[in-house]
This record gives sequence, C-alpha cells and structure tokens, in this order.
Amino acid sequence: MCGIVGYIGKSHCKDLVLGGMQRLEYRGYDSAGFVFVNEKAACLSYLKRTGTVANLAKELSVFDEDGFSGIGHTRWATHGVVNEANAHPHFNCKGNIALVHNGIIEEHESLRNELIAQGHKFLSKTDSEVLVHYFSSLFDIYKSVKKATIELVKKIKGAYSIVVLIEELPDQLLVIRHNSPLVLGRQKKGFFVASDVIAFSDKVDEFAFMPEDSIAVINKNSIQLLDFSGKSLLPVWQESNLAFVDVSKDGFEHFMLKEIYEQKKVIDKIVNFYRLVGTDSKLSASDDLGNALKYQLDIEYQDRIWQQLGLSLKTVKNLKKINLIAAGTSWHACKIGQFFFESISNIQTSVYLASEFCYMPFFKEKDSIFIFLSQSGETADTLQALRLVKSHNVPTVVITNVPSSTMVQESSGFLPMQAGPEISVASTKAFSAQQSILFILANRIALELEKITLQEMKSAEEDLFMVSQVLEMAIENYKWEISNGLAEKYSAYDKYIFLGRHISYPMAMEAALKLKEISYIFAQSYPAGELKHGPIALIDETTPVVLFSALDEIIYKKLLSNAQEVKARSGHLVVFAFEGQNELIGLADYAFVLPKVNPLLAPLACTGVMQFFVYEITKRLGRPIDKPRNLAKSVTVE
Ligand code: F6R
Repeated sequence: MCGIVGYIGKSHCKDLVLGGMQRLEYRGYDSAGFVFVNEKAACLSYLKRTGTVANLAKELSVFDEDGFSGIGHTRWATHGVVNEANAHPHFNCKGNIALVHNGIIEEHESLRNELIAQGHKFLSKTDSEVLVHYFSSLFDIYKSVKKATIELVKKIKGAYSIVVLIEELPDQLLVIRHNSPLVLGRQKKGFFVASDVIAFSDKVDEFAFMPEDSIAVINKNSIQLLDFSGKSLLPVWQESNLAFVDVSKDGFEHFMLKEIYEQKKVIDKIVNFYRLVGTDSKLSASDDLGNALKYQLDIEYQDRIWQQLGLSLKTVKNLKKINLIAAGTSWHACKIGQFFFESISNIQTSVYLASEFCYMPFFKEKDSIFIFLSQSGETADTLQALRLVKSHNVPTVVITNVPSSTMVQESSGFLPMQAGPEISVASTKAFSAQQSILFILANRIALELEKITLQEMKSAEEDLFMVSQVLEMAIENYKWEISNGLAEKYSAYDKYIFLGRHISYPMAMEAALKLKEISYIFAQSYPAGELKHGPIALIDETTPVVLFSALDEIIYKKLLSNAQEVKARSGHLVVFAFEGQNELIGLADYAFVLPKVNPLLAPLACTGVMQFFVYEITKRLGRPIDKPRNLAKSVTVE
C-alpha cells in the first residue's frame, strides 16, 4: 500500500509534497517521511515520524529550510514493525541516495544477504531498503541512472512503485513503476509524481498515467519516459480538470457517520443516474403511445450502458454465466448481487474472493463475463484477478467509485458507483452503492433478455427509491435507543456471532467485518444453517448472536428455527427483522424491526441501522473510528 508523492520544479517543494501526502493518507497512515535536496546545505535533508502526516507536518513547519525537489511517503507496514527506522525514505550507506517504495519486493532476503556480504549496512527491517542499497551499488558501477535502473529492474521481483532522489543529481527525480500505480503531473513550474492523481489534481495542467513497466527520469524542464529495456515511450498527457474536492465532515463527528447518513442520497442518485431515459408524462399522456415511444428511447439507452461496459449487445443477449470478483466489503456486495443475477436475470453466477482467484485453475467459459467490484479501483488482489482474466480474452467489467483508478484503465468497461469520496476506512456508502448498482444491472440484463417487462424494470427502480427511505428511516427510528443505552450495553461484550441465511448471510458477514474492523471486538459470521454443525457449541449468554432475517417465507421459517436453537441454549439474541415477523421478534432479547421491502433488497434496508449500531458501539470504546489500527483505505499489496 503506502502513498508516494514527489515534486521537482521552480517552486519550493515542502508544502506541495506534504499537501499531496495528506491526500494520500488513505493508502496508509502508520508513519510518514519526507526528504528533499536542501537548497542551503546542498545535501539531502529528511524527517521520518510514526503516526500521521499531520504529525510530521507539525515538526517540519518549524524547520524553515526547503528545496526544489523532494519526495514524501505515507506508510502501511508490510515488512517490519511501525517505527521510524522502518518508515520511508530509506538511504544507501553513504546517505546520499534516498528512496521511497510502495509494493512488496519478493525474495528480498536473498538480495539483502548478498548486499550485506558486500559490506552494506541495513538500518531497517523493510524489503524496500534493499532497493536503495542495490541501486546505489549499481550506480557506483555504471555511473548512469538509466543503466543502473535497467539493471535494477532485471533483478527485482514483486510489485513496486519507486521514487529516488540522488544528492549529486539534485535536479532529477527517478521514478519506476511495476505492478503498482504511479501518475505523473505537469504544470508550468514543474512536475509531480504520485500514487494517485488526487495528490496533485488541482495543481497541474495535465497528468499522465505511467505505463506498466516504465521508468521516468524527471528534471525541472522535462520528463523522459522509458520502458524496462531503455526504449523511449511517449507519455499520454490528459488535461486535468479533476478539481480536488476537499471533503469535510460537515459537522459530523466522524467521516463514517457522515457517510452512513449519505446513503439515501447515494442510492437515489444511482437510480436517477442509471434509470431509463424518458418521462413519465409521456406515459401518462398516452399510455400506449407513451410506452412505445419510451421503449425506443430505452433501447438507445440500453445500448449506451452496454457500450460503457465494453459489451456488445450480442454478448449481453448470449450471456450464460456471470462471475463476480472482489475483496472485503465489496465481496459481500457481490455475494448479495449473486442473488440478483440468479433470480432476476436467471443467469448462473459465481462469486470469487480476489485473493484466492489467481491461485485457482482458470476455466474459460463461453458466453461469460467477469465483473470486478472495488470501491477504490486499486485493490491489488482484485487488480491481479482482472489481469489474469484479461489475459484469457474474456470481457472484464469494473464497478468502482474512482474513475481514474488503475482498474478502469485496464478493464474493457466500467460503471461509476456514484457514491462520492468515501473517506472513512470502513466502507459504508460504497456497500450500499454496490448493492444498488448490481440490482439495477441484474434488472437491465433481465430486460435485455426479455425476462422482465419494462414495467417491472420501472418498479425495480421504485423499489430502490423505497429502500433508500427505509434505510434512512431505520437509523432515525433507532438512533435514540442506540445512543442512549443500547450501544453502551453491547460495547461490554468481547465476542459476537453473526448469523444469516440465503441473501441475509452476506449481510451477517458484512456486519461481523464492520464490527471487528472498527471496534476490534471479535466477531464471527456463519450461515445460520451451519450452527448445528459445530458453532452451536459457542452459544452462551456471554456471546450475543446477531441474526439477520429475510423476507422469503421459506428462508424466514428456517431462520426462525435457528433463532430457537440459540434461545434453547440460553443465547443472547439480537435480530434485524421485518414488520410482521412476530415470532422471531418475540424470541429476541432486542429486535430492530424494519418495514417490509422487496425481499432482494432486505440487506440494503438493514445496512444503515446495522452500521450505525456498530459505529455507536465503537464510539463507546473510544477507538479511532475513521482510521482503525493496522488498516488502510486502499489495499494495494497482495
Ligand atoms: C471494509 C473495507 C474493505 C474493502 C476491501 C476492498 O470496510 O473497506 O474490506 O472493502 O479492502 O476494497 P475495494 O472495494 O476498494 O476493492
């Protein structure tokens, strides 16, 4: 993971780099470091600190020296504990070459041993430090940055984006990209490089994504881009109209709370964005004519959505299999989406965990597509899975919140999630957005395959509008009780079991993930039917069992039996149920009761109040809610 920012040009670099680092903190926030060519001393000056960029910036603000070239790094530890020695930048033995790295270097131990045998002294436990020592020894041999870099990339394996600053070449930044994103930016006064364009989007006139396996040598006036064999490449510059939206908490105590409350707006926006073109007035003015006219417009719109997805109409019409791939919360959204595609579009659907997918045999299936879900569009596991599928010439579709992300650049097509920036590390509104888009997509495919009528498509959209209201209303209904006693009571337990069945099982998985990642309370989810096959041994009054109900009658009855099994063993039962499910509600020690919705949207209806409950429990425990320990917003290592 980690975030990298570099600047070289005619302006002082300190504030520019620190500003960019602050915007990249979502990639890691356990330590931060900054190095620059000190204009007064004509040498490399640096500062590294554990903790946030703000921490580092505070100390640097009293340090009045600056320079015209500098690099910064925000760390998410992979190799070596969180301390100043392991924070970046790392240096060669003479201390005159500084390097920052994002990614993982494979087999770094053997290279480290080779270098130690040659007399190199290591100060950190990181894989990254081998890069600077090795580069330094190559630079000593070849006396050429380019030659040394070409030799370096021949030797190292893994994933890396690297920026290097060399004291004797103060007017130059060396940048290397392999399997880890980097983007270049240019303005009249200089150049930027960063892990994500948002680091400098409002400061440059143009930006260019560095191609995979490329090297950039940047000086104050120009950039030279090369491939790994040293051949020149042309950067593809794009105009930067990506103003940086400085997202604030808008008076909320945490971003997570703000984002929980944004969900109604996000779902409504998604329905409006993706809804069929045409006006209801046409329908009501003359129903028959209106319908006919509208249908023509819809066909045009349908074509557009498939174009955006990079799918031909023929591919959609012939679809026999849908594969969904993601990680974490996005994977839970896929597990819910599977029910949409199978029951609405009547297409067999498989869901894969991105981190497992690449290590399983790949079976190429005719008439199949792969859909990758990722809030960030940068998750390394999902990106690797996408690359693998792409190498088999199978259509790859990405649904992401970040249109400038690597996944969008590499896929055949994408749908924007429309959720707006999600700042809190724990995903909330992205989860709702993903469920909503998958629901719309399943209906769109069904419409194309004539499995549903236009009218049914319209009522699916109305169902989503309705659920967005239920989601918000449920938070409002339970807000007082949760904040005045319930959260306090439930923050005292140190372990939880979450149960669900059918479409409510992924919801139980998501609730368990949410609770453990922000509160650090141990939480385990199970399909409720599996309880009797082992986990039932864990049931006692000290472990609350949280059960998510479903609106399918058969599934509800089965869940009811599972709830009875819990109560029969003196378990403490909390349920998320729906109006009319009185038997289940009666069994519970506490019940959240929601209005009935389209059964496929039951998880979405429960999403907001579940997140609010978890948020309030966590607040009672005094945890850093928006930035939980050990995590990062964008997981760019495998
Ligand atoms: C949990 C959470 C993570 C992410 C996962 C995938 O709240 O945010 O589990 O869902 O790391 O990230 P994306 O969706 O960016 O690929």
